[in-house]
Amino acid sequence: MCGIVAGVARQNIVPALLEGLRRLEYRGYDSCGVAVLQRGEARRVRTLARVCALAEDARAEALDGPTGIAHTRWATHGMPVIDNAHPIFSGEQIAVVHNGIIENHEQLRQALRNKGYTFSSQTDTEVIAHLIHEHYRGDILAAVQNAARLLQGAYAIAVMCRDEPERVIGARQGSPLVIGMGAQGAFLASDTFALSGCAERFVYLEEGDLVDIEGRRVQVIDREGQPVERREIAMQRAAWDAELGAYRHFMQKEIFEQPVAVARTVATLLGRGEQQAAMPEPAELADIEHVLLLGCGTSHYAALTACGWFEHFAGVTARAEIASEYRYRDHVRRGGTLVVPVSQSGETADTLAALRYAQAAGEDRTLTICNVAGSAMVRQSRWSFITEAGVEVGVASTKAFTTQLVALFALAIQIGRQRGHISDAEAATQMRKLDALPDAMRDVLAREPEVMAWAEALRKSEHVLYLGRGTHYPIALEGALKLKEISYIHAEGYPAGELKHGPLALVTRAMPVIVTAPNDALLHKLKSNMEEVRARGGQLYVLADLDTELMGAQGMRVIHLPRWYGVLSPLLHVLVMQMLAYHVACLRGTDIDKPRNLAKSVTVE
Ligand code: G6P
Repeated sequence: MCGIVAGVARQNIVPALLEGLRRLEYRGYDSCGVAVLQRGEARRVRTLARVCALAEDARAEALDGPTGIAHTRWATHGMPVIDNAHPIFSGEQIAVVHNGIIENHEQLRQALRNKGYTFSSQTDTEVIAHLIHEHYRGDILAAVQNAARLLQGAYAIAVMCRDEPERVIGARQGSPLVIGMGAQGAFLASDTFALSGCAERFVYLEEGDLVDIEGRRVQVIDREGQPVERREIAMQRAAWDAELGAYRHFMQKEIFEQPVAVARTVATLLGRGEQQAAMPEPAELADIEHVLLLGCGTSHYAALTACGWFEHFAGVTARAEIASEYRYRDHVRRGGTLVVPVSQSGETADTLAALRYAQAAGEDRTLTICNVAGSAMVRQSRWSFITEAGVEVGVASTKAFTTQLVALFALAIQIGRQRGHISDAEAATQMRKLDALPDAMRDVLAREPEVMAWAEALRKSEHVLYLGRGTHYPIALEGALKLKEISYIHAEGYPAGELKHGPLALVTRAMPVIVTAPNDALLHKLKSNMEEVRARGGQLYVLADLDTELMGAQGMRVIHLPRWYGVLSPLLHVLVMQMLAYHVACLRGTDIDKPRNLAKSVTVE
């Protein structure tokens, strides 16, 4: 987590740094700060408020200089207080911003204390700053190289030195860092999006790389200390600019962008989009017997939803693993496995590590489904498919989820076809269902006023139970996750059949129970589960397809979705879950796009 932006600009770099931080706030927002070299001095401002407040402070302090570093923090070591906010200084000479965790910081801190260094923060970053200071002999690159050799753990850093006014050094090991170059200068950031306003050409640093930016010169150095050329890529234009427009929050905007995001993803899958997908040759899929899906959070729920599709359409076994669990346990390898990491950012530390773990165990057929081209997971995988959700700013994932589902559905169909589990004609029929999906999504989004009425009824709840069955069970999980992360109401998702094995004990008049009830083969089972709730006074909120004939009654409210959409129904029911969480959170006045304690891109374990 944490966002870094830094560089050497032709003019005052402060506006570019602040704009970059604004775009990086999704990585954490416990504090933020910026420092520049100005008239022979390193000057900084830091705040516990948001980037817009930092911009005010920078203006008030007349911060102005071509060389600077900036940071937005998600606290790991040390509380969110000003002393722990980056940039962190060593004396008045060295300034550092850091993303990641230094695992041996305690030993290093003690060694530095023994040498007379004092610490003014609780951060592991201050260890880096002093270590660089200790190694500084007039060349900041050499100092960073020598200090980096002593660091264990994950980091991306940007460093500047008061005595070398047009120079910034970057280094990465385990956390992302990209170089951006353009007419305005040379920059470093945690992602390309941060620099989309000031750079056109990008270079991703590889593990162990350092970069030396000095004036207009940019040199990458590998872990052996040798100058190296890394591939340059042109900017992938952001599909949507990160502007709110008419919406109150990015989450709301992103919910309503889903029909377009899905249409773009479908177009790409059908070969009508612009993307040059790095997809496997059909023959590579013909002997797949097992699909292993890796992910965290909402991406894990997308994977869980898709398991049913892989089994049904492809006739292969499929398992969705929580990446942080998978990476730390022994597992039995099976021949014919396709490993599919699923991730919005492509940078989530646990998913990336799980992918590497699978590769180290011998899995060489890996296909990442991701929303960010050029991300670490995409680069680490043999194949990739980039969803076309566009930039997702809200911490709670919405359009990334539905576009992941589209990609996973198409993959299941493709594997089924190559294995001969379904015919070409059946595959074509299923793929055609994707074409009409955006319109069906618009119809569901039009239910927003009814959802707002539910939100009013739920706003004071302390606990909410979500129920679903089959491919809608992960939708219940996702609904509960959305509600807890942005409204801070405790919510749990359950497979409805498990109700009487525990959660029924919680059901009273004070317990709202939200049920996703598609008109599928399990509906009559689900109806029995709903009756079990009603009989105990539980308050039911049911998302039902119009053709289910489920009607509102005492203790039961119903929102009717237009009609049953078959196997793709999860993509419609989830829209109501997203809108519901959003409106409950609005009524409770939480910080919807930046919920407390969370960050969008979790690049630490
Ligand atoms: C964080 C975000 C979630 C996201 C999860 C996985 O927890 O808040 O919205 O689902 O990370 O992120 P990824 O980028 O791998 O999909």
